[in-house]
Amino acid sequence: MNSLEFETVHWIWDGILYPQLFGLGGIMIAAAIIGLSTGYFGGIGIPCSSPYHWPDLGILYKRRKRPVRVYMDGCFDLMHYGHANALRQAKSLGDVLVVGVVSDEEIVANKGPPVLSMEERLILVRGLKWVDEVIVNAPYDINEKFLNTLFNEYKIDYIIHGDDPCLLPDGTDAYGLAKRAGRYKQIKRTEGVSSTDIVGRILSPLRAADTDMSQNNVAIHQHHSNTEKLQAGKNLPIGPQLSHFLPTSRRIVQFSNGKGPEPGARVVYIDGAFDLFHAGHVEILRSARQLGDFLLVGIYSDQTVSERRGSHPIMHLHERSLSVLGCRYVDEVIIGAPWEVTKDMILSR
Ligand code: CTP
Repeated sequence: MNSLEFETVHWIWDGILYPQLFGLGGIMIAAAIIGLSTGYFGGIGIPCSSPYHWPDLGILYKRRKRPVRVYMDGCFDLMHYGHANALRQAKSLGDVLVVGVVSDEEIVANKGPPVLSMEERLILVRGLKWVDEVIVNAPYDINEKFLNTLFNEYKIDYIIHGDDPCLLPDGTDAYGLAKRAGRYKQIKRTEGVSSTDIVGRILSPLRAADTDMSQNNVAIHQHHSNTEKLQAGKNLPIGPQLSHFLPTSRRIVQFSNGKGPEPGARVVYIDGAFDLFHAGHVEILRSARQLGDFLLVGIYSDQTVSERRGSHPIMHLHERSLSVLGCRYVDEVIIGAPWEVTKDMILSR
């Protein structure tokens, strides 16, 4: 078997015998089957060595579906609801979602320096409700060696990516091998948001003020220069863009758990702007959730954030709401919560 060969999707179905076969009657029946298949039917095509065909024997055999394991990789820099939506869609194509978080070195080599560290990106990815397992320091290029690791070690059935081209510096498709192996699936990229766009939004007021970049912004600056080149390559408009995200009730439902608190549950409330959802937000939501049974998160309106903090949030209310809703520790959000917690709010729960 050469290194690129792989098991077919048929093996997603694992056959198991009924336990009764191990009883006395079972032994007799099993012996009869073996006798029939190798004797009476031998030579006319019941392949006794292939359990995949055994379901034809009806009551004696039961199929058990093995969980379909899917893999999605990415940089997940400045994690946003577009990434969350990609992982949500990937999870819907299987049962177990394994996420490869690309290493800092690989991002530098292929896209320019990331803004967030590997540690921060990991906290954000692990904090998402659709993520089951994580591969740390995944390669950017799904080469032959890594493809085999995915198939043989992680038992991945499909590799999934958004419908945007993902090219290596030499112009080849990073998912070319997975596509040729017939184990690639595509999801729809979420319109209106990208890490580049967010960097543009962050830099926009800085540019307007025509101030020098502080040392702390060097990474952002470098990333931006690099992503500007990428944008130019993709014929995207350069510079800060307004959000084109249109919140629909369907998207909110897709991100939501759809469940209220059980009777008698201890409901914990935490509020905030949750702008540019980051690792610190994940940590505080995790701690808050541990204080009770149900976590309700109030997200201030754009106007409240502007009034109270003196500047507009970078991400608007619905974008911030989706980022919070995607977090595994959150049960429900109030979209546009008041600054002060009122008695009405508490009693209406
Ligand atoms: N993705 C998506 N919608 C977006 C942004 C990303 O569906 N608006 C998907 C990508 O197609 C990929 C996954 O999210 O399958 C991880 O993307 P990542 O490697 O982190 O980055 P980019 O594709 O470059 O996106 P961005 O510029 O926003 O970081």
